[in-house]
Amino acid sequence: MTLQSTRTLPYGEAALADAAAAIRAGQCVAVPTETVYGLAADATDSHAVAGIYAAKGRPSFNPLIVHVPDADAARRIAVFDARADRLAAAFWPGPLTLVLPLRPGGEIASLVTAGLDSIAIRVPAHRAMQALLAASGKPLAAPSANASGTISPTRAAHVLATLDGRIPLILDDGPTRAGLESTIIALTGTQARLLRPGPIAAATLAAALGEPVLAAGDGAVVAPGMMASHYAPSKPLRLNAADARPGEWLIGFGAVAGQDTLSATGDLIEAGARLFDSLHRADASEAESIAIAPVPMDGLGAAINDRLARAAADRD
Ligand code: TXA
Ligand code: MG
Repeated sequence: MTLQSTRTLPYGEAALADAAAAIRAGQCVAVPTETVYGLAADATDSHAVAGIYAAKGRPSFNPLIVHVPDADAARRIAVFDARADRLAAAFWPGPLTLVLPLRPGGEIASLVTAGLDSIAIRVPAHRAMQALLAASGKPLAAPSANASGTISPTRAAHVLATLDGRIPLILDDGPTRAGLESTIIALTGTQARLLRPGPIAAATLAAALGEPVLAAGDGAVVAPGMMASHYAPSKPLRLNAADARPGEWLIGFGAVAGQDTLSATGDLIEAGARLFDSLHRADASEAESIAIAPVPMDGLGAAINDRLARAAADRD
């Protein structure tokens, strides 16, 4: 992670223009939402999304929430059913995230969904995030704008405290209102499931839906971070491979060349950006199994190795 100088600009036209230019250049920008400050990047640019993980120093790749200006933009990315229509009409813009089937063939980078076929999406109510969506013209992936393992930021100063030198720009529009991350509800199954409690109560969602919402602990594994939602290839995966054995599809890195490579130059941000696409390609190939070259543990390497270890172990 190369250090850069972090500018904090008060929200306004000039700051917005700079922020939109940074987004279009593939950089991350900290921007307030009605819940917490988010660290936003172009959700269609895998390299930009890898930059979010690098800046946060996240030790693993969790799927991220995509922010869009309105429900129509959300419908271009995710598949809505009647339940999703109802919740979107009732609570958007606002602190509600819907997990829905990903619309196939869309342009969202696979790193955003961690390779899943579902996507977490919301329409934020904050003027600064809305203005950045409009000015950049991009769907924005944004987790909370804090270094991994630290508390979510509700002021620009909190962002600066852990991300100073790691991001180019903070749009400062004062303290956030909710201070608590959005409620997340999954509508990918027959029953609605609460994945993360938040500003909108489960009972309020159930009332709007006219049907029960399964709460965390109601049978399904739903606690954040514990969901059995992480993408794993269907084929056996061998780690730290120096070369391919018969029947294997080798994903290279650096000096180890394969049918495919995470990064021929050994660039960890590029490797993070390409990880899930490479695994999907390997899975779709004719080969019986997959091997992958060693990836060093520094920088984003920790997150990449965490993901690979899970992908190699998630087998039954
Ligand atoms: O209030 C918020 O939601 C803030 C602001 C910035 O919008 N954002 C935020 O994002 O909290 P993040 O990335 O920290 O939280 C994403 C959560 C994680 O718990 C993740 O596991 C879950 O959403 N998630 C994302 N995609 C998912 C998917 N396809 N299926 C299940 N859970 C998903
Ligand atoms: Mg967070």
